[in-house]
Amino acid sequence: MTATPLGQSRTLTPDRLAVAAQARPLDATVPALLVEGVTKRFVVARRKKPVLAIDDVSLRLERGGVFGILGANGSGKSTLIRLVSGLLTLDEGRVEVFGHDIVREEMAVKRLINRVSVDAAFFKKLSPMENLLFAARLYGLDAGRAREDAIAILERLGIARKRVDRPVEQMSRGMQQKVAIARALLTSPALLLLDEPTTGLDPRSKLEVQSFIEDVKTTHDASIVLTTHDLDEADRLCDRISVLNDGRVVAEDSPSGLKRLVADIHGQEPTLHNVFMTYTGRSLDDDVEGESDDNDD
Ligand SMILES: Nc1ncnc2c1ncn2[C@@H]1O[C@H](COP(=O)(O)OP(=O)(O)O)[C@@H](O)[C@H]1O
Ligand SMILES: [Mg+2]
Repeated sequence: MTATPLGQSRTLTPDRLAVAAQARPLDATVPALLVEGVTKRFVVARRKKPVLAIDDVSLRLERGGVFGILGANGSGKSTLIRLVSGLLTLDEGRVEVFGHDIVREEMAVKRLINRVSVDAAFFKKLSPMENLLFAARLYGLDAGRAREDAIAILERLGIARKRVDRPVEQMSRGMQQKVAIARALLTSPALLLLDEPTTGLDPRSKLEVQSFIEDVKTTHDASIVLTTHDLDEADRLCDRISVLNDGRVVAEDSPSGLKRLVADIHGQEPTLHNVFMTYTGRSLDDDVEGESDDNDD
């Protein structure tokens, strides 16, 4: 680990966690994210039955943890992320971010979270630096400081200083995804929502992005929700995993707990693959990478 991780740690904790602590100042056990009985339906056509995208989902992410949402395409991962980030309204249930209700305290929550989706949108003709500085302005960050932080974050991500001024469209998808994560980190989110951050990346970029997420986890006071359909990624990065199938949580535990479960109860080899097969009745290997059509930034 470097001594000054990403050059932004100084902006991260005090004011943001003060906001976080406002709700219950003495309660250090307030979770980073609390989802309780959340349901979301989409009405697709007037005569058709609504799609039940999220069905009575609950989860609790402790501060500093990484919570994995593991599920096949269409299982509801992105819908859950969009609900937590306030892009969609809840039909039922409630969500709290560091003790703040996402409906009643929308502004406090907005300051605490940031989200990276599988197909992050950029100004493609602009450079990573220009994209990051634009985001910084939207968030009302000091431009000089944002520039310093941006350089540090991009360097940390393996994007050299000489590349930060070239157009994003000239970069590989892996690089672009790293820029997207860098942009999210610039606002020092206390809760970082990563929706399939490595889907569609080549193996090397994937490993680089995963290492970076590990760094963020260990060097920052950031709590992370990560959706993925990569079993190894979930195993490597997550403290807890919820397996989502057709909008429902079908299993939840630590990666080792889940593996123990299939071994002890079902007499199978303790692998996440067997966990997934057992609880969803399907294999994730059938899922085509990058097939998701998300693009909502
Ligand atoms: N805006 C929408 N309108 C209608 N149906 C939607 C919408 N967004 C998602 N869905 C449906 O909700 C279900 C879950 O989708 P999604 O959350 O994107 O899954 P995942 O991210 O796990 O692939 C799917 O059946 C999908 O078709
Ligand atoms: Mg998705």
